[in-house]
Amino acid sequence: MASFETLRWRDGRLEMVDQRALPARYVYLSFDSAQAVADGIRNMVVRGAPAIGCAAAYGVALEAVRLKDVRPGDFRSGLELAFVALAKSRPTAVNLFWALGRMREKLKASDGTDQRTVAAVLLAEAHAILEEDVRLNRRMGEHGAVLLSDGACVLTHCNAGALATAGHGTALGVIRSAVAAGKRIRVFVGETRPFLQGARLTAWELQQDGIPVTLIADSSAGHLMNRGEIDAVIVGADRVAANGDVANKIGTYGIAVLAQRHAIPFYVACPLSTVDPGVASGAEIPIEERGADEIVGYGETRWAPEGVAARNPVFDVTPAALVTALITEKGVMTAPDRYKIRRLCE
Ligand code: MRU
Repeated sequence: MASFETLRWRDGRLEMVDQRALPARYVYLSFDSAQAVADGIRNMVVRGAPAIGCAAAYGVALEAVRLKDVRPGDFRSGLELAFVALAKSRPTAVNLFWALGRMREKLKASDGTDQRTVAAVLLAEAHAILEEDVRLNRRMGEHGAVLLSDGACVLTHCNAGALATAGHGTALGVIRSAVAAGKRIRVFVGETRPFLQGARLTAWELQQDGIPVTLIADSSAGHLMNRGEIDAVIVGADRVAANGDVANKIGTYGIAVLAQRHAIPFYVACPLSTVDPGVASGAEIPIEERGADEIVGYGETRWAPEGVAARNPVFDVTPAALVTALITEKGVMTAPDRYKIRRLCE
């Protein structure tokens, strides 16, 4: 289990590790309204599918707590605005909408009770979502750990660790559980251009845990596979369609194609809250495009010529046919397809 909390409730506020500052600085930022949380999600203070789901749940709860003593009409309309702001914060990871759906159900169920009780119920639900996420990640880790053999060298992409969840992680959770079971696992992580989640976050997380990690340029993956230096690939997911197609961080699709070419297993670890039976295939998953500023430079540094055109799609879709197995809290599903996914969601 990672030794830090990505999100925590302190003195009536949500605190989140500012992931933009890592690895140079490990600091928490404090949030006291839904709009502040929505901005934090959009600006990447918090990122990673399950983590933004947890943050969104707290965003709703914070707003209810903040407005608990206003007039009933203002309470209702304030909460509606909170749902809208949070739903607009990022489009691809379905966990955000899943968490808002759960909060909506609680709100409906508490209809007719006083506002203070509603606020308490919503806060309790946000806590429950957070705690549940850690529990499910641990279960997923145990299921997935058996797939990694002692001495394996595993490639991961982006950050699907404790920072991307409420704790333990999805893909990194599987690695953590394998290590906890006594297996010697070495990890390669791609930088994950352009936002560098691999270089800044995954490398930091694994270092904290003492798990051997080697950072590579994203474009090195094929070369290392070709030389037999990678035994398995494991990544997280932002949304899995009803047919098993997987949306994850940009670059994942290319790695999956390379893995198939080299007969290397390609595993996806995600909780059921990442599976969206409402989209038939990956083609229907909304893919976020972020600003060109993330492509033409980083921070204060600019390396591309002024005026150059740039595009920045930040997720891609890996067809189910390239996925060796999907690891969820319910177990390991080999060769996911629409029939198996339907049964999984029952
Ligand atoms: O843009 P990000 O950093 O939110 O993207 C995160 C990813 O793509 C992760 O791989 C995914 O959310 C799985 S996290 C357990």
